Formats: sequence, structure tokens, C-alpha cells
Amino acid sequence: MKFFIRVPLKVTLFGEHAVVHGKPAIASTLPIHVSIEAMDIDGDRLIITFNNVLLPIESLALDRKNTKIIEVKTNEETIKKFINYITTALDICEDEVRPGKRKGFLIDLKSPVPTGVGLGTSAAVSVGTIMLCLASYLSTTDVEKNLVAKLSWATEQRVQGAASPMDTYTITFGGIRYIDPSTPKAEFIESPIKMNFIIGYTQKRFTTGMLVRVVKERLRKLQSMTHIIDAIGGVVEEAKNYILRGDVESVGMLMNINHGLLDALGVVTQEHHVIVNMLREAGALGAKTSGAGGGGAFIALARDEKHAEILKSVVKTLGATVVATSLGFSGVEI
Ligand code: PMV
Repeated sequence: MKFFIRVPLKVTLFGEHAVVHGKPAIASTLPIHVSIEAMDIDGDRLIITFNNVLLPIESLALDRKNTKIIEVKTNEETIKKFINYITTALDICEDEVRPGKRKGFLIDLKSPVPTGVGLGTSAAVSVGTIMLCLASYLSTTDVEKNLVAKLSWATEQRVQGAASPMDTYTITFGGIRYIDPSTPKAEFIESPIKMNFIIGYTQKRFTTGMLVRVVKERLRKLQSMTHIIDAIGGVVEEAKNYILRGDVESVGMLMNINHGLLDALGVVTQEHHVIVNMLREAGALGAKTSGAGGGGAFIALARDEKHAEILKSVVKTLGATVVATSLGFSGVEI
């Protein structure tokens, strides 16, 4: 059977890092996608191509039994990283639906943005692979999304050591989602008016895992850090209410507060300070680092569509890449 899966990328609006420590967060899908074309193949082999790079087949034939990569003859970090998520997702899915069984797949992945910039490429690959695996084993495209989200989150946890359900749940269900990590639950929240965001990224110097560990370590040492995490949780609750009311001025102010709190956690780079300040000077209602920090993604709230175009040109002059000027609606589709 042949499958085509479209997996949206995501942006965090509020609550990153604090969500790892039990606080809620708000994230949204973006109208840009990782696409996965796949088919079942004989044996338990995996053949993966990425952005049309067809690597020598022997270098990508993996021993699925031990989920060990026999050999990857490439220095492409992105491919190595994706392979880890794909093999882990398949193991978790097969253990859930067909314990002991291993199928072979040919998977062609395409991503419009590089991995590890805070826009959810790893989560998208996890969600897409889980969707593929469930559809293939259960012989249906009508796959239960709660199961997709649950198994994708387990994939991220196993690969990264620690991960909140924010990225995987948002990407599975789509739109703006209020994530309660304790349940976990992904509540759809909708603004009555269109909010015009610009979303972009700069190079990210540290991995999410490293930044999560840094914050954890500081939390262990400093009592004051607990108050910052609590304050972020409060910002998220307030932001949810203002999004639901369509009060963009207040949403923007809360984005600025959240950025300040991320700075207090120690994850905002000098480059992002410059970008965020320039965006505010140019009239953004709010601007913040988005995701784990250490560079990577940022998001700003514009006054209208025309203003979003102005903000876009401002950040381009600073060397950042803009990927979207609106949020997305859909989750993973097969
Ligand atoms: O990997 P990123 O940059 O999309 O951000 C992850 C957000 C964190 O809250 C820092 C980690 C998590 O698992 O939620």
C-alpha cells in the first residue's frame, strides 16, 4: 500500500519550558508541512530518502530487530536525527498494535525547514511515522488521533529523554491548542478575529535537550526559578482568555512578558534580543523567542496583514528566515 501524509510544523505561542514542569502551554500548527510519501516493502528493512537525497541503499538498510542503525554513511545530521525518530516511532507503534512484528517501509521525507530550529520538525517526523505505521497495520486511514498523539509523544520522550506533549499533540490535532500536560489534553482555542503573526528562525546553537537540562539544573539550584515557572503558567492562563476574546493588544503584551520570563530562565540569545527589540520598534504588538531558545524560532504579533509584511522585511535585514505570516488550522492528514 502507498501512503501520503502531510504533517504541519508548529510554533509555540506561550509557555515553553514551563510546560516541561507541569504548566500549561499554547502552541499552534503552521501552514507549512513536512510531507511523507511511503509504502510497505518486503522484509524488515527501512529505506529513507530526505529532500530527494537518495543515499546508497545499503547505508540506509536498517536492522529493525534491534532498532540499531547498522551503518549510516553520511554526515548529514538531519538524516541521522530523523532516522532515530523514525525507527523509535515504528518500534513504539508496532509494540502497541502488533507486538513482536516488524514491517519494512520505504519512506520519502520532505521538509521545508531544517531540523532543530524550534518549529517542530522532529515532532512532525514522529507524528507522521506513527500515522503511517498505524494506517499500515490497521489497514485504514481513519486512525484514532488520540492514539497518534500518545505514541508520538512516547517517541519524543524516548529519543530526547524528556519532552512535554506540546509539540506532538498540537501537530496531531492542529490549530491553536491549549496544552495541559497533566492529562495530557489539547484544547482547541479560537480567536474571534484574525491574528496576524510573523514566524521565523535564526540558527539555533544548542539542542532542545541541552536547553531543557540547563533550565532543570537551574531550577534545582535556585528557588527563584520556581517563581518564574509559576509566572509563565500564569501568563499562559491569561493569554488563553485574551485569545478567546480576540484582544490582540493584551495578547501582544503577554508575549512580551513571556519573552522577559524566558530571558530570566536564561535561554534567550543576544541575536534574539536584537530581533525582538527591532520588531517592537517597528510596531509589533508583541514579540518573543519561541520554543527552547538558544536562537531558533521567534514569533511576533503584527497589527494587520500589511504590517506583517513590514515586520517581515525588518527581520530579513537582520539575517533571519521568515517561514509564515499566519497560523495553520489542520493537524496531521493522511
Ligand atoms: O524543540 P523546540 O524548540 O520546539 O521547543 C521545545 C519546547 C520545550 O518546552 C522547551 C520542550 C518541550 O518538550 O516542551
